[in-house]
Amino acid sequence: MSDATDATGVRPAGPADVPAVLALWARARSAAASTPDTPETVARLLEADPGALLVAATPGAGAAIVGSIVAAWDGWRGNMYRLAVDPAHRRRGIALALVRAGERRLQERGARRVTALVAHDEADAVGLWVAAGYGRDQAIARFVRNL
Ligand SMILES: CC(C)(COP(=O)(O)OP(=O)(O)OC[C@H]1O[C@@H](n2cnc3c(N)ncnc32)[C@H](O)[C@@H]1OP(=O)(O)O)[C@@H](O)C(=O)NCCC(=O)NCCS
Repeated sequence: MSDATDATGVRPAGPADVPAVLALWARARSAAASTPDTPETVARLLEADPGALLVAATPGAGAAIVGSIVAAWDGWRGNMYRLAVDPAHRRRGIALALVRAGERRLQERGARRVTALVAHDEADAVGLWVAAGYGRDQAIARFVRNL
């Protein structure tokens, strides 16, 4: 799938990327996911919304996956999840490139608004989303129930 790589090294992930993406999430994310990620949950995403999982890879042969985002389209809104960049590759604009690639994908599908779920106490993440131009929603609360 590397033929779809854009100028910033971002491309849609395929099934072969799943182990590397799970490994990235394990080492890059600041807190454990409240709903655990498994090869099956990622495979289901790739099947349900192909191209929703975007990855940033280092250039050249033996490219390593150093960043990810899920830019999911549900037919109504765009939602961003699992933004993560390898600790050794931070502050080089990789997260911003992933967000912009996700926005392009969602806009192409008709999304008029994009939501990112960000923990209140994750300062790195808050800094990134503010830098990306996202505003904190003061009016809407998130109601959640695990199934
Ligand atoms: C948050 C995260 C994705 C940022 O990745 P990154 O590739 O380093 O971010 P970028 O280089 O694209 O940063 C772009 C801008 O965002 C802001 N930003 C990024 N990291 C920041 C931080 N730790 N603190 C404050 N602002 C930050 C800055 O304005 C930065 O521009 P600058 O480097 O010129 O100052 C990365 O730190 C990470 O993976 N953290 C752990 C997981 C996480 O919190 N994910 C987000 C879940 S919503």
